[in-house]
Amino acid sequence: MKNLCTALLGMLFTGLSVAAQQPQVITDYQVVPKPLKVELTNKGKGFLLKEGTKVTYPSKNENMKRNAEFLATYIKEQTGITLQPIAGKVQNGAINLTLSKDVAQAEGYTLNIEDKRINIAGSTEAGVFYGIQTLRKAIADTHTGSILLSNVKIEDAPRFHYRGMHLDVSRHFFGVEDVKTYIDILAMHNVNRFHWHLTDDQGWRIEIKKYPKLTTVGSMRKETLIGKYGSGVYDGKPHGGFFTQEQAKEIVDYAAKRYITIIPEIDLPGHMQAALASYPELGCLDKPYEVRTTWDISDDVLCAGNPQVLEFIDNVLAEIVEIFPSEYIHIGGDECPKIRWERCPKCQAKIKELGLKSDNAHTKEERLQSYLISTTEQMLAKRGRKLIGWSEILEGGLAPNATLMSWLGESGGIQAARMGHDVIMSPNNELYFDHYQSQDTDNEPLGIGGFTPIEEVYFYEPVPTALTAEEEKYIIGVQANMWTEYIATFSHVQYMLLPRLAALAEVQWTPRNTKDFSGFLARMPRILNLYNKYGWSFSGHIYDVKAEVKPGKEEGTVAVSVTTMPGAKVYYSLNGSTPFRGSEDTYEYTGPFTIQKGARVLRMYAEYPDKTTRVVGYHLPFKM
Ligand code: ACM
Ligand code: ZN
Repeated sequence: MKNLCTALLGMLFTGLSVAAQQPQVITDYQVVPKPLKVELTNKGKGFLLKEGTKVTYPSKNENMKRNAEFLATYIKEQTGITLQPIAGKVQNGAINLTLSKDVAQAEGYTLNIEDKRINIAGSTEAGVFYGIQTLRKAIADTHTGSILLSNVKIEDAPRFHYRGMHLDVSRHFFGVEDVKTYIDILAMHNVNRFHWHLTDDQGWRIEIKKYPKLTTVGSMRKETLIGKYGSGVYDGKPHGGFFTQEQAKEIVDYAAKRYITIIPEIDLPGHMQAALASYPELGCLDKPYEVRTTWDISDDVLCAGNPQVLEFIDNVLAEIVEIFPSEYIHIGGDECPKIRWERCPKCQAKIKELGLKSDNAHTKEERLQSYLISTTEQMLAKRGRKLIGWSEILEGGLAPNATLMSWLGESGGIQAARMGHDVIMSPNNELYFDHYQSQDTDNEPLGIGGFTPIEEVYFYEPVPTALTAEEEKYIIGVQANMWTEYIATFSHVQYMLLPRLAALAEVQWTPRNTKDFSGFLARMPRILNLYNKYGWSFSGHIYDVKAEVKPGKEEGTVAVSVTTMPGAKVYYSLNGSTPFRGSEDTYEYTGPFTIQKGARVLRMYAEYPDKTTRVVGYHLPFKM
């Protein structure tokens, strides 16, 4: 009896609490990356998403079934509502996932919300997946029982078909679960290529069965530098880890289900000290090597004159293509010092045999590198794969079919595009996410240097104006890179990635003429709310006050206008004091204003409903 009473009371309270909760109303579909076309139809009352809503998908299509399950999982995580995936025809009262020839672009989709149903259609399953991402991002983290979605028609498709993000797991090792989380984060930002930097001087991270010492020896360094490069101080702790081929295949599959192709990088002929530690005969010097314990570039590289080295590369690639189905394999090619080759009898004999000569354009050692990269390209071509390399594969002449990843600025990319080679733009100034996000570096975790705030990422335009319309077609996409010399924990990786990845997503996805930074800031709160929901670290600098400080109309004055995330009140001082609300030296910002001659320092901060930012300062450009 007691139990029955409790059960009845429980039902009563549950009923009351549901009745008391109004559905959350979603009226705004401005997500990141910004969709091509969002048209609120302003008709009808909207679609009520509630417990048990069905998600239909075409029968016998495993990818679409998985898409339906992804949607159900996201909605459960973000709202607590349980959706019900079922195979079968489009129906009323449901979210219907379909494939449609009416959607032109391969990764495009339409998302139509009406009173009776939601339809997400793509020409491919990937397109449907991006439609699902848009829907979940519009809803964000909303635990209100049910959700009323206003009627809308969305048409969307990406600008670039190569939308990449990179992760270095050599300098610091991140394991299977971290890499899967990284892939989840990329999927939320419509990224479709994951460039996985698997080998470097400081650790070899992928099992190669023919060369077991690459992982028994090469995956472990005896210790790691503490602090800045050159500190001379080491931690005395071994650091290592690697992926078995089974684990790597599991990750490839995990990514593929999220429409992300993994492009593995085996960095050669430089960045190979971990391989030399494992197989010293592959180097130019007759000496033992150790897995590198500090950063920067090693002079010790693969010996280009040793036939065993070509055999090694061929054998490693033979296993790599079995693990990674990607059409592209990245072979590095960056930062290979030539000092060993210049003095190595085997390398010099090879140069002679090939008849390589130095001239104004290239040294004979650079031509030797080009020979090695072209030979590597043939090894991939015979297996039906294509080569990507960093800017330096231009040294000594570009391999015939290579795709260039332009990291030393854009000049290499421009050069390659003019020669009719595909190019992925990934310039270090704008798209290296190991750079600091704030100039106040004392309050940041130790980093490699640089300064790449989110605005700089956002305003990066991957198609250089120097190219003709014909040449532009060779810019197939854009990627940012996450080097981890100074990033030892996965939460630090996330902090460097987010929210800059959101800015990158709009560079990759959104046409250049519809991007706008203040709109982007307005679109950000929902995705930041999802970062919080999933427990992903992110940098809060996006909340800081950003002031534009220009000469005013009158000689000697300064005009100030301010941008923030939505919902901020901004306070400032002009006499160098720390501004705080209520202080007599502090003013509230109410709109663009002019500062008269005399003040030298503008200091500002913002208050949001749930946080107060740090103070940012500007030295005013008055003539004294
Ligand atoms: C690179 O940053 N060395 C490609
Ligand atoms: Zn050599």
